[in-house]
Amino acid sequence: MVTTTRDQLHLLGLEGLSRAEILEWLDFAEGFLDIARGSAPPQDSLKGKIVANLFFEDSTRTRGSFTIAAKRLGADCIDLSGSGSSVSKGESIVDTALTVEAMGVDAIVLRAKPSGAPHLVARAVRIPVINAGDGRHEHPTQGLLDLLTMRRHLGELKGKTIAIVGDIANSRVARSNVHGLTTLGAQVHLIGPPSLAPASFEKIVAGPGRVIVSHDLDAVLDDVDAIMMLRVQFERQGVGGISDDYRRLYGLSAQRAARLRPEAIIMHPGPMNRGLEIDGEVADDPERSVIREQVTNGVAVRMAVLKKLIVH
Ligand code: CP
Repeated sequence: MVTTTRDQLHLLGLEGLSRAEILEWLDFAEGFLDIARGSAPPQDSLKGKIVANLFFEDSTRTRGSFTIAAKRLGADCIDLSGSGSSVSKGESIVDTALTVEAMGVDAIVLRAKPSGAPHLVARAVRIPVINAGDGRHEHPTQGLLDLLTMRRHLGELKGKTIAIVGDIANSRVARSNVHGLTTLGAQVHLIGPPSLAPASFEKIVAGPGRVIVSHDLDAVLDDVDAIMMLRVQFERQGVGGISDDYRRLYGLSAQRAARLRPEAIIMHPGPMNRGLEIDGEVADDPERSVIREQVTNGVAVRMAVLKKLIVH
């Protein structure tokens, strides 16, 4: 169900996971939803364990929910970031990971700018490594929480049509979702400006599902079961920046949302640029928006991942 090094399990990406493995993760996470919602008492199954959150890029949702997930399982956490750790003095991410391992932590949760950094760390240490987002590459726990949220609203994802809209090229969320959704047999529309929605993404097909890249959001609105709006990642834009037409062409306005099927759900991994890729009233729509539910489901997914990898 995960990448293995030296008999140690890691969650580094959704690429390469089978349908059965993804469904196993989703089913296991379902069992933590009541605790994540606060309607069931926490567990102490990881009592005495320590989770190291190494976040060398900013985060609210992922970092906060890994911390809450660990605490709801009875574990303790240590937190390191770029500023305030010896990474700011030039220590490498691998050396930092080896250092916290030597202190006796039981798992490493890593967010890092370089794509592939969690893979390097997993090869170096003897404890579980969880990729909390590496560059433009993958964000597997975000992918799992998105799949869980979609499955809870739409049922089995095989044959469903999912639109992922916006800054695809820079999005690790899009990559993890494409791997997961196509493995489960969904059809994925990737929509954005040509510079941000490259045709090469059509080749990331991991299973029976299809990927279709296009540049006209209005052409697909009527057909989708879920629409996932992506944050425009200003920090990763090149020289050209974002066109003034972006919101007009690719923003999910109330007028566009009104064209969605009545049962279609609206998603966003956060953080949002309100008024750019999604209008505030759409993000807050109590009937269709599942954005806050995604966050809660993220706690359940991260509880499942920590428990499975630490006590397997
Ligand atoms: N979705 C997500 O990864 O959000 P954060 O950057 O706040 O963790």
